[in-house]
Amino acid sequence: MDAPPSRTVAIYPGSFDPITNGHLDLISRGSKLVERLIVAILHNNAKQSLFSVAERKEMLEEVARPYRNVEVTSFEGLLVDYAVARGANVILRGIRALSDYEYELQMALMNRRLNPSVETVFLLASEAHSFISSHLVKEVASLGGNVAGLVPPAVEERMKRRALARR
Ligand code: PNS
Repeated sequence: MDAPPSRTVAIYPGSFDPITNGHLDLISRGSKLVERLIVAILHNNAKQSLFSVAERKEMLEEVARPYRNVEVTSFEGLLVDYAVARGANVILRGIRALSDYEYELQMALMNRRLNPSVETVFLLASEAHSFISSHLVKEVASLGGNVAGLVPPAVEERMKRRALARR
């Protein structure tokens, strides 16, 4: 007998500056586990970003279009409050290597303390994506390096244009 469809609504938060193929892999795999996946971009004025939240939202919407149960939004304030406001009971995050673990553990425990009804669930990054980070991708692109295969083609194109504009 088939398992009943999942009723879980999950939120996948992040900076996504910009979205990488690692993020996209998580969206693809995560979307199969839940009824609805809300990809939520943090508005963070304290962090200098390459792309505005509106640009990141546009890129995410473009690459997430094939996934019918994925929605892209942005949020401010506490993640758990936003999750509750959107009816999400799960926070989805990816872990690449041991170095991610401590940061993720702290966030998950803090979020649990703030609201124990929202559960954090981790997916391990695929081997092919375990070394990719937005930070490194930005550094490579800004120095004229090739980021093909590390980010979706639409993002690669925008990064090239941005790097040229900054020269
Ligand atoms: O992709 P990132 O930058 O590692 O994502 C970090 C993010 C957005 C998940 C985290 O900064 C966050 O949830 N910020 C919202 C503020 C918040 O709720 N802070 C307290 C719990 S850690």
